[in-house]
Order: sequence, then C-alpha cells, then structure tokens
Amino acid sequence: MSALSSRTVSAAEAAAHISPGDRVGMSGFTGAGYPKAVPEALADRVEQAHQRGEEFRIELWTGASTAPEVDGLLTEAGAVSKRLPFQSDPTARQAINAGEIEYIDTHLSHSAQQAWFGFYGKLDVAVVEVAGILPNGLLVPGSSVGNSKTWLDLAEKVILEVNSWHPRAYEGFHDIYYGTRLPPQRMPLQLLDPMQRIGDPYLRVDPAKVVAVVQTEAPDRNLPFKPVDPDSQAMADHVVDFLHHEVARDRLPKGLFPLQSGVGNIANAVMTNLAHSQFEDLTAYTEVIQDGMLELLDSGKLAAASATSLCLSAQKAEHFNENIESYKGRILLRPQEISNHPEVIRRLGLIAINGMIEADIYGNVNSTHVMASSIINGIGGSGDFARNAYLNFFVSPSTAKDGMISAIVPFASHIDHTEHDTQILVTEQGLADLRGLSPMARARSIIRNCAHPHYRDRLQDYLDRACAANPGGRHTPHLLGEALSWHQAFQHTGRM
Ligand code: COA
Repeated sequence: MSALSSRTVSAAEAAAHISPGDRVGMSGFTGAGYPKAVPEALADRVEQAHQRGEEFRIELWTGASTAPEVDGLLTEAGAVSKRLPFQSDPTARQAINAGEIEYIDTHLSHSAQQAWFGFYGKLDVAVVEVAGILPNGLLVPGSSVGNSKTWLDLAEKVILEVNSWHPRAYEGFHDIYYGTRLPPQRMPLQLLDPMQRIGDPYLRVDPAKVVAVVQTEAPDRNLPFKPVDPDSQAMADHVVDFLHHEVARDRLPKGLFPLQSGVGNIANAVMTNLAHSQFEDLTAYTEVIQDGMLELLDSGKLAAASATSLCLSAQKAEHFNENIESYKGRILLRPQEISNHPEVIRRLGLIAINGMIEADIYGNVNSTHVMASSIINGIGGSGDFARNAYLNFFVSPSTAKDGMISAIVPFASHIDHTEHDTQILVTEQGLADLRGLSPMARARSIIRNCAHPHYRDRLQDYLDRACAANPGGRHTPHLLGEALSWHQAFQHTGRM
C-alpha cells in the first residue's frame, strides 16, 4: 500500500481544500477519466456558500469535455467563472452563451503548453482521477490522460481520486512523455510510429503536494452514439470510396496512413464503415477512440491505435473493461499535448476526419458556432489535426434542423478552418476534393457536389452575381450585403 493511500478522506473533506477564486485543473477528456466525487462535493460547498450570500466561483481547466458530474453540476451550482479548453455539456453551453461563464476555446494541443507558459495564471489545485496508486507512489492512469500530467506538475495542491471501476489491468496502457521543455530548450519529439513509446507508463506526483485521496467506484459516462442512418452511411461511403481512389492512384499505401477520427456521430459512423471496407492493417494516431474505432480494432482491420481518451458508450466501455487484456499493446493513451502534437501529426502524415457545422462556398469551415453567435462545443483537436494532416476531411449532413438550414452557405458565420487549410468536404450528397483548386473552382465543386439540391441553384446564383458585381475582385467574389443573409433569414423566418 502506498503512503499516499493513508491520506484517504471523504470527498467533502477533499473539496474543502478548494477555495473561492482558485484555478482548478481536473482530469477528464470526453466522459472518460474525470473525477467522479470531488466535483459533486465542491458543487454542494459552493451552493451552501451562495446560500450564505458568499461569492464562490472557480476557474475550471480540464483536458476536454467531461460529463454531467463535472460540467453539469458545477455549472448548475454557479461555481464556474472561467472554463477551458473544451466543453460539450448542454448546461455549460447555455451558461457560456448567456455570458455567465468566460470560455477560452483553444486548440487542445495548445492548452498544456499555454499553461506552462503562464498564459492562464498559476494553477492552485489539481483533481485527478487514476486507476491506482502503486506502493512507490507512481499513478496508474485510467481511461484518459488529457492534461493530467501538466495539472499534476503545475498545481500547488493535488487531490487524487482512485476509481476502482477502472480495471487495474490499465497498467501498461499509457505513455506519459516527460521530456516537455519550454522554448528555446525544446527538442524534436522522437515519435516515428503511432505505437512507439517515448515516455513512462505512469503519471508522477510530488507526494508533498497531495492533500487528499478519495476512493470511488463509478463508471465513466459518455452519451451513446446515434445509430448509423442513411445520411451518415452515405458520407462514410464517400470517404471510403475516396480513400480507395487515392490508393489506386498511388497517393496512399494500401494500409493507408494513420487515421484520426474526431468527436461526434458522423466521425463515429465513418469508422464503423471502415470495418466493412477492404482495407487491412490500418493504424490510428488520434485524440479519441470512440465506439466505431473500437469496432474497427475488434474487426482486426485496425491493428493499433494511439489516443488520449477512450470515449466509449456505456455498453462499449463495459466490453472494453471485460476484455481489457485483449487490447494490451493495441491501444496506447498519451497526454493530449502529444496525441495532438502538430509535429507528430505532420510527420506521420495523418488522414484526419472531423465533423463540421457549416462550410462556405470557398471551403472555410465552421466547427463551433451556430448563427455566428452561439457556441456548440469548441474547436477541440480539429485544428491540430486538420492543419497538419496529410489529408483532411470535414463531414456534415448537407442540411440541419429538418432541412431548414443549409450546411453549405455563401459565407460561413464563424471560421475555424480557413480555405487555406481545408482539403475535402463531404456531405451525404457527395464529396468535394478541393486540393489544388483555385477559390472559384472550389466554389463550383462544393456547390455541385456537397450542397443539398434544394439550395444548390441559389448558391450558384449567389456565386454568379458576386462574380458579375466584382469585375476587379474575382478571386473570392462576394456580395457584402448578402453574404450572411441566409443566416439572417433563418433568424427571422426559421429557414434559410
Ligand atoms: N446550423 C445549426 N445547427 C447545426 C448545424 C448548422 N449548420 N449543423 C449541425 N447542427 C446541430 C445539429 O442539428 C445537432 O443539434 P442537436 O443536438 O440539437 O440535434 C448538433 O449541431 C450536432 O450535429 P450532428 O449532426 O449530430 O453532428 P456531430 O455529432 O457529428 O457533431 C460537431 C458535429 C461539429 C458539433 C462536432 O464534430 C464538434 O464539436 N466538432 C468540433 C470539435 C472537433 O472537431 N473535435 C475533433 C478533434 S478529435
């Protein structure tokens, strides 16, 4: 037994170490590996303080999104003043869009280094869930790594949650890189293969900083994925056909390059579809392993996957826990600064597949906002991967909200990925390969191949009139008074 285990206390006693105004770094990346007990106890404390008329808010830093037990409860308690670097919780989203929480939506590979640079201020407390503490004090991570290493290193005080729901067989599933240095001392990352180890299997913590240990036994909580519907099946088919096409032209090897698949239902469906393709010996260097990618591993098509989190539905998480030994050596979880590292992504030549909200006729992509003003989730790792990948795909149904919204618009109402970064757009209608095309050729391809037939003629009409109106501006012609009129129409009439 570790000396740290003798510091075991209740969640309420542990939460008492967190003070108003603290910056708190919690583990968790999607609904995986987040602390299960201390956030709830903290929410209770905050509510009691508010009942006494006392101010009690914290800054909440994590790896990425968490689950209702963290973002939901803390937001409902009015406990969060600032949030970074990603969330996807409906309650938190509402509070952010109401201006009650300041949200710093940053690239997920950047959050650790920006914390090291001191851009967010000093970190007061880390609350990190682990699968176990070894007698020598080393920590066995569970279903995600995210920013845990950085929070453990930077925080003044550490609270550990040991969750016995995570199998102890997690030992050996992680690769924690401890070579991070700040400029100008940075060294190249010697990571040349998705499954190469460059670090340790364990997280380290300075025992002097550990103020509390809390024992839990509670499952991770991720939302189930939507079943593959005809539209997502069509998008997945377009992606797989395109990859075959690239192999046929010798631009990709038969086993492809390592895959990255983003969060969300569509990206999940593409992975499910690859399980039925002819590709063999695939690998993945990705951020999250969702159900579809686990199925791909189970099918034998995917040989191995490196990620930072296991974002699995309840059913798949049980399946993983029961069969964990069979995944040993085939799954490696790393800190998100490494899973999403631009240097590695570019070196390995990834094939990146991410969801989008909308794209404009020139291929600028909005992954984050609805009607310009309201955030849905955040940019997450989509920028890390898309900008540095060998091939990037952005996928979305061609319409949203029962056809009232076109996902292809004259001008994107928010831009996360510029026309200089995006390569291949996919909707259920088809695929636009934008590589090597001028803006005008991109526009023609996107309108013809990706737009829904209901909106196609109007988009072409917009392009034609924009061209006619700008004799000296035919590189990316626009009608300035009309560029966002489709969004305005939706706000005023409920349809674009
Ligand atoms: N206008 C308004 N709403 C839109 C829309 C549009 N153009 N396009 C989609 N939506 C809404 C959908 O209606 C749905 O809303 P609902 O939950 O009320 O039904 C929601 O956005 C999600 O859309 P869905 O079609 O289910 O797609 P998804 O689950 O595949 O998610 C993103 C798509 C873009 C939200 C998701 O991929 C994301 O958060 N991306 C950014 C982060 C990222 O890419 N990370 C990957 C790195 S690993």
